Amino acid sequence: MKPHSSPELQNGSRTSLQNTPKIVLMLTMSLVFLTIIPLYLFPLLATSLAWSSSNSSPPPSTSSSSSSSHYSIAGLRMTTKSSSSSTCDIFRGEWVPNPNAPYYTNETCWAIHEHQNCMKFGRPDNGFMKWRWKPNGCDMPVFNPGQFLEVVRGKSLAFVGDSVGRNQMQSLICLLLRVTYSVDASPNQDEKFRRYYFPTHNFTVASFWSPYLVRTQEADPNGPMHTGLFNLYLDEPDTNWTTQMKEFDYVIVSAGHWFLRPTMFYENKALVGCHYCLNPNVTDLTMHYSYRRAFRLAFKAFNDLDDFKGTVFLRTFAPAHFENGEWNKGGNCLRQKPFRSNETRLDGYSLEMYMTQLEEYKAAEKEAVKNKIKFRLLDTTDATLLRPDGHPSRYGHLPGENVTLYNDCVHWCLPGPIDTWNDFLLHMLKNEGRRSVTGRRSWSYSKSKIK
Ligand SMILES: *[C@@H]1O[C@H](CO)[C@@H](O)[C@H](O)[C@H]1NC(C)=O
Ligand SMILES: *[C@@H]1O[C@H](CO)[C@@H](O)[C@H](O)[C@H]1NC(C)=O
Ligand SMILES: *[C@@H]1O[C@H](CO)[C@@H](O)[C@H](O)[C@H]1NC(C)=O
Ligand SMILES: *[C@@H]1O[C@H](CO)[C@@H](O)[C@H](O)[C@H]1NC(C)=O
Ligand SMILES: *[C@@H]1O[C@H](CO)[C@@H](O)[C@H](O)[C@H]1NC(C)=O
Ligand SMILES: *[C@@H]1O[C@H](CO)[C@@H](O)[C@H](O)[C@H]1NC(C)=O
Repeated sequence: MKPHSSPELQNGSRTSLQNTPKIVLMLTMSLVFLTIIPLYLFPLLATSLAWSSSNSSPPPSTSSSSSSSHYSIAGLRMTTKSSSSSTCDIFRGEWVPNPNAPYYTNETCWAIHEHQNCMKFGRPDNGFMKWRWKPNGCDMPVFNPGQFLEVVRGKSLAFVGDSVGRNQMQSLICLLLRVTYSVDASPNQDEKFRRYYFPTHNFTVASFWSPYLVRTQEADPNGPMHTGLFNLYLDEPDTNWTTQMKEFDYVIVSAGHWFLRPTMFYENKALVGCHYCLNPNVTDLTMHYSYRRAFRLAFKAFNDLDDFKGTVFLRTFAPAHFENGEWNKGGNCLRQKPFRSNETRLDGYSLEMYMTQLEEYKAAEKEAVKNKIKFRLLDTTDATLLRPDGHPSRYGHLPGENVTLYNDCVHWCLPGPIDTWNDFLLHMLKNEGRRSVTGRRSWSYSKSKIK
């Protein structure tokens, strides 16, 4: 990995987010496997890989009335808890024009990470900021920062995962800074673990770096594909975050693209297999094995915590949008407007990862019934899939800059579509509040609000 990084990335910068270039870099290296692995794993799906055919015609075998029909094929489509108080599923819908957006800029928000500051690096179009999510059959308000702060007064929220999870945290901070201020309350200088406190509302938001969710060791910075080789201890929690959860009221867990990289799998301290290690002596169990085990263990970690009484959100897989080539072979995301739901579909490894998450989520939720923990599905995958226009592409860095992921079709420009993940979050948190109020009053209240 190091040999491939540019001098700019190696030196980093002295901003409060200085480690991120490395993180971005690491993430991007993983994209090699976005392009290689699925051909092996999903021969039947290989022709419909996301980066080559996200502009494809509607799925031949599904009804085009709603994107949600894709998931019912596998019989796993879930009704989302967050919308249980109405018949409307807020996660299925379309993007509609919103001339009032955006609600912050790179001048009003310090939290936008350099590589997601697309306007700074000259992105010529700003239409990608001017959309809002319209669920089928109801409306979801755009983020109201004052309301969010009231809902989370005296509470704390943690993001556990990788740089895409942090991307959402930075969006949230930007949205809140419209009406308040924050102070850096991080425990130390380690950029992988940040904490921001909002004194006006006694609210804390924190990030915990854990791209594989389980205990991880870098075994070889080079590895078979020169992208590093990681040992994943699939039955050992990553105590960097699991030991810190008890103080949090809400935790948003996510993980994704890192699982595509070469990894060795350990269980009971013994090597049980790998993903793309290219060693004939080790069984290739594929990334779906580790992805499933990692979420299973992460959810179990919560269910095993005696003193955790909070709500765990699974933020579902966020598809990348490379088209006309692989990430390192000229692939790019040049679209300037969203897809309609009948213009694309989730497929290939993205579908596989999403389904794996849903299965493990469902199992964890059953376990949770015995405990006090609540599990919630922040099911952003569909809405996100429809936003090929929201990535930095080549506007995540200076034009001539030698960066590994020249066209970033994985992360999200700020402001941008990822802000909507926080619209969903606020909507869900408000529903949590209503649920704690028992009786008909809360039911009719939420009903009237949602319709
Ligand atoms: C970009 O950086 C890499 C690693 O430092 C180096 O191998 C490569 O030659 C550089 N490319 C250009 C065009 O400078
Ligand atoms: C914000 O974006 C503008 C272009 O829209 C750019 O000129 C400016 O340098 C950026 N500011 C910061 C602080 O990133
Ligand atoms: C802030 O919230 C915490 C709980 O997160 C609570 O223990 C503490 O008393 C609150 N402080 C103030 C000043 O309200
Ligand atoms: C915990 O975080 C530290 C500091 O970033 C890191 O060196 C270590 O590898 C992490 N531990 C695990 C189990 O991932
Ligand atoms: C596989 O195992 C054989 C026999 O133990 C050994 O000679 C060989 O070096 C191993 N190959 C790799 C790639 O580890
Ligand atoms: C998608 O739906 C819209 C509106 O219903 C329709 O105008 C458009 O032709 C459809 N596109 C495709 C590719 O089916």
